[in-house]
Amino acid sequence: MNTLKACCVFLMITALMASCSQTHTPAIPSDPHSFSNPEEAFVEHLSLSLVVNMEEKILQGEAVWMIGKNRNAKELILDTKELEILEVQTSNDGQTKTAAKFTLGPKDPILGEALHIPITAGTRFVHIRYNTTPGAEALQFLPPAQTHTGRSPFLLTQSQAINARTWVPCQDSPGLRFTYNATVTVPKGLLALMSAENPTQVSPDGVYQFQMTQPIPAYLLALAVGELTFRSLGPNTGVYAEPTLIDKAAYEFEEVNDMISIAEKLYGPYQWGRYDIVVLPPSFPFGGMENPRLTFATPTILAGDRSLVALVAHELAHSWSGNLVTNATWNDFWLNEGFTVYFENRIMEALKGAEYANMLAQISLKDLNDEVRDMGSDSPDTKLAIDLAGTNPDDGVTSIAYDKGFFFLKTIEKTVGREAFDAFLIDYFNKNAFKTMTTDEFVAILREDLLVKFPGSEEQIGVDNWVYGTGIPDNLPIPQSDKFTNVEKAVSAWIAGVDEGDLGSDEWTSHEWLHFIHSLPDGIDAKELGRLDSVFHLTASTNSEVQAAWYERAIKSNYLKAKPAIRKFLTTVGRRKFLMPLYGAMKNTPGWEQTALDIYREARPRYHPISVISVDQLLSWQE
Ligand code: BES
Ligand code: ZN
Repeated sequence: MNTLKACCVFLMITALMASCSQTHTPAIPSDPHSFSNPEEAFVEHLSLSLVVNMEEKILQGEAVWMIGKNRNAKELILDTKELEILEVQTSNDGQTKTAAKFTLGPKDPILGEALHIPITAGTRFVHIRYNTTPGAEALQFLPPAQTHTGRSPFLLTQSQAINARTWVPCQDSPGLRFTYNATVTVPKGLLALMSAENPTQVSPDGVYQFQMTQPIPAYLLALAVGELTFRSLGPNTGVYAEPTLIDKAAYEFEEVNDMISIAEKLYGPYQWGRYDIVVLPPSFPFGGMENPRLTFATPTILAGDRSLVALVAHELAHSWSGNLVTNATWNDFWLNEGFTVYFENRIMEALKGAEYANMLAQISLKDLNDEVRDMGSDSPDTKLAIDLAGTNPDDGVTSIAYDKGFFFLKTIEKTVGREAFDAFLIDYFNKNAFKTMTTDEFVAILREDLLVKFPGSEEQIGVDNWVYGTGIPDNLPIPQSDKFTNVEKAVSAWIAGVDEGDLGSDEWTSHEWLHFIHSLPDGIDAKELGRLDSVFHLTASTNSEVQAAWYERAIKSNYLKAKPAIRKFLTTVGRRKFLMPLYGAMKNTPGWEQTALDIYREARPRYHPISVISVDQLLSWQE
C-alpha cells in the first residue's frame, strides 16, 4: 500500500470511529451557565446531609458526590455561589478520605465561583463540607408572621434556573442528571419535604431521610420545611399545606387525579411514582415549580372556585416536558415551557372542554403580543432559539419561550393534524425519557419522524422561521373563544353607555373578568373605573389573577381608590409574575413613582431573593 493510500484508509477509519462514537455517546452540549467539566468527569449520585438552622438562616451541609465517568480528569469542577466551603476530601471507596487542596475560581456576578477539586483516575467520591450564606439566592427563610398559621418558621428553595449552586455545590447544568439521597435535620415539629420520596408525618426527632432514584438535573433539587400537613387526593396523589389551609387546598386541587389520567392517556405513563403538591407561603416567587414528585405551588391559586388550576396542569405536564425530556441548556428553555403550555392546554381541554382551552389560548396570545410589542418584533430576544450566554438565564423567562413555543406547536398540530402530532409526541417522550434535548436536535427529530410524512408541511409551517426567526410568524393560528367575543361586546356596550348591570356578566368566570379588564380601552379614566368598581367590586376581588390585572389597570388610569388594596397585595404576595407588571406600571405612571418605592421598601424584606433581584433591577433600587 503506498503512503497516500494508507493515509486515506487511516483517515476513513478515524472518521468512521468518530461518527460511531458520536452516535453512541452524544457529545454533552456545552452550557454557558455552568463552570463544570462533564466531558472529563461527571457526577452521578449525591448523598446530601443538611442541618436547617432557622435562626441563623443557613444550611450546614455535607455533599458526597459519586463520580460516574472519569476520563483521566485532573480535577472535578463544581458550580458554587455564595457558599462557604469548609473542607473537601476525596476517596476511592467512600471510606478512606484524603484532604483535597481545592481552589475557588474568580467570582462571576451571575455564575458564582467554580470549585476546583483535584482528583486522580481512581477517585470515586468527593466529600464537601460547607455552609450556605444569607446571600443564597435559592433560599428563603420566613419568620412565622409570613406563614398562614403564623406559628412556625418556614424554609423554601427555588433552584431553577441556576440557583441550586447556592445551596449545594453541584454540576449545575440542566443537561446533567444524577440520583440522590438526603438526610435533613430540622427543628422539631416541622415537616421536611424534597423533590423525592416524601414523608407524610412529622418525625419526632426532626430527622428525615429522602431518596430520589430517578436521575434529575440540579435545577430540580428542592426542599421545603414548615408546619405542613398532608391530605390524600387519590391513590397516587395528595397535597401538603399548613393545617389552616389544608381544607381549602384539598378542595381546590380535587381534579388533580383526573388530570393525571388525562395526561397519561395523552403522552404515556407518569414515570415519577407519586404526584404531590405543596402549597407554600405567598412569598414563593413563582406560580408553580415542577419539582419532581412534589410540585411547589403559590397559595395565590387557591381562588376557592378551582378557576386557577390550569397551573397544576402546567406543573404536572412538566413531568413529561422538562423533567423527562429536559432542555439541554437554558438556551433551549422553550423546549421545557412551550411544550408544557401546549400540554397544559390539552389537559385543560380534556378536563373542561374546548371553549375553556380556547380562552387559555387567547390569554396566551395576548401575553405573546404584549411581550413582542415591548421587545420589538425584530429583537433577537423574540427567537425561540435564544442566546443567553453572558446573561442571567432568568432573563429568558419571557412569554417567548412559553407562548411563542405553544403557538409553534399549535401550528404543527394544525398542519399535520392532531392524531399524527399526538403519535409523534408519545414517541418523542418515550424515546427521549431521562435524556436532554437541544433545539437543533428537536428540529431534526421533528423533520425526520413527522414532517417527512407530510409533504409540503415543512414550508407550510415555516419551521426555521418559527424557531430561528424573530417576532410572531404570520401563520400563527388565532384561537377563537365565543365567551371572550361576548366579553368584548360587553366592553363595547359599556363604552356606548349601557348600564354596568346589563352587561350579561352574571355568569362570568374569572377568565372572562380577566379578558374584560384586558379589553378596557387604554385611555379609560379613574372616574370610569370607579363606576365599574362600585358595581363589580373588582378592587376587592379575591382572585389573584383578576386582582393583578385590575390593579395594573388602576395604576395606569390613576385610580387612587385602589391604592390601599394594591399596597396590601404587594406586601403579601411575592410572585414575580404579579410584581413586575405592577411595579413596572407604577414606575411609568406620573404620580405613582414614589408609591412604588414606598411599597417596595416595606415589601422587599418579605420577598424571595429571586423576586428581589428582579424588582431591584426594575426600580434601580439602592439600599
Ligand atoms: N418552571 C417554571 C418556573 C420557572 C421557570 C422558575 C424558569 C425559574 C426559572 C414553572 O413551570 C412555570 O412555568 N411557572 C409558571 C406557571 C404558569 C405558566 C402556569 C408561573 O410560575 O407563573
Ligand atoms: Zn413551566
